[in-house]
Amino acid sequence: MSSRLYIFDTTLRDGEQVPGCQLNTVEKIQVAKQLEKLGVDVIEAGFPISSPGDFQSVIEISKAVTWPTICALTRAVEKDIDCAAEALAYAKHKRIHTGIGTSDMHIKYKFNSTREEIIERAVAAVKYAKRYVEDVEFYAEDAGRTENEYLARVVEAVIKAGATVVNIPDTTGYCLPSEYGAKIRYLMEHVDGIDHAILSTHCHNDLGMATACTLEGVINGARQVEVTINGIGERAGNTSEEEIAMILKCHSHLGIETNINTQRIAATSRMISSLMNMPVQPNKAIVGRNAFAHSSGIHQDGVLKNVQTYEIIDPKDIGIDDNAIILTARSGHAALKHRLEVHGIQLDPERLDKVYQDFLRLADKKKEVTDDDILMLAGADRAESRSIKIVNLQVTGGVGIRPVAAITLDIAGEEFSAAAEGNGPVDAAINALKQIIRRKMTLKEFTIQAINRGSNDVGKVHMQVEHDGHLYYGFGASTDIIAASVEAYVDCINKFRK
Ligand code: KIV
Ligand code: ZN
Repeated sequence: MSSRLYIFDTTLRDGEQVPGCQLNTVEKIQVAKQLEKLGVDVIEAGFPISSPGDFQSVIEISKAVTWPTICALTRAVEKDIDCAAEALAYAKHKRIHTGIGTSDMHIKYKFNSTREEIIERAVAAVKYAKRYVEDVEFYAEDAGRTENEYLARVVEAVIKAGATVVNIPDTTGYCLPSEYGAKIRYLMEHVDGIDHAILSTHCHNDLGMATACTLEGVINGARQVEVTINGIGERAGNTSEEEIAMILKCHSHLGIETNINTQRIAATSRMISSLMNMPVQPNKAIVGRNAFAHSSGIHQDGVLKNVQTYEIIDPKDIGIDDNAIILTARSGHAALKHRLEVHGIQLDPERLDKVYQDFLRLADKKKEVTDDDILMLAGADRAESRSIKIVNLQVTGGVGIRPVAAITLDIAGEEFSAAAEGNGPVDAAINALKQIIRRKMTLKEFTIQAINRGSNDVGKVHMQVEHDGHLYYGFGASTDIIAASVEAYVDCINKFRK
């Protein structure tokens, strides 16, 4: 008989904590609706006490989705729990996720406390949350480095206090998969009352072992996994949702089932990557651009003879359709609207019209417009409301020519122009820009990635600019990579001028 594994999606909480990945409430609702279609069981919608934006997002997500449980994070602090309960008022199914650090490191340095006092605080928090909701999840932060015997006492105490789910986070991504699996097994075997709660995995990827640890946790008895789309999350990220879903599908002999509709994985991955401006590494398992590309001659030969020689997953199983409709300049509004809706994006008529005009301009430059292109266009509205806009940009460069750039910016309705040289066209354009915006700014990170393939493709640029001790994240996209780079730089400036 197969066993059901609950998927707890924390893309909108642990995933969204990544600097530069913040979404506005409207975008979070789009993501939540897509996660509902994907079939996740729980959506961790935010940490309501952390900001008014998070508080409001939990409210709006609660109103927008029906089927999944909506979860809100708190510390083991009464005012956090009050705030989470208020934010969850509209959720059809609601859960409060409260917890405290349990490793000696956290107890001593973070709380200046004792093991006994931490158990008391954990129990008090669960009991307090129970006054508001039936479904209370407790997290033992840094459980990965918490001694098993003490951890079992904490888990037993919070289950007795009413916790329905107990989360065992490997917060620092330290555990070996075998150690993490043994930890879950230990708890399954040594905690009195373990049958009254579900154990949950929550693994970070600092040593590249998050998926392996999560799987070991499941094999040893955990029945909920906390995961994010594309594995996004702080530092090296969280366990990747698509990897766990596809491992369990490919290894059905494990007898573990999820509610994930795997055919929605590719669309969900693209949506998150596009809205969060977070590129997916090309060789990322399951959703990377090269995940199904067989480049070596031997592999191509085998795949042509029988696809199963080198392919363990049918791309269609994750929703990659070779025959997906490609839009051209002749495609109408309805076709564009349909492709956006396939990816869970619904635009009001005015915004759709704006994206359609951008689409026609892009289709003029490159004959075939793909889903990734239109997702990029649908996300490009952020630039609209910014106070600095590029009016024009002219760059000369090439072999044996010193690059020169001239730029005109519109700053709050007034135009300013400048020209400069550089060691390359991007450097020249940014030097010209800096003659207008005379602030101390340092470019810390700069990546250019083609969206699809071909020399007529759209280039996506991500930048990090340091100003006044803070990092600002910017994004630009264009068929002209120099224009995209300057757009990304201007996006950063707009953020610190707000
Ligand atoms: O990694 C972690 O410990 C967490 C908890 C707050 C659940 O994200
Ligand atoms: Zn985490």
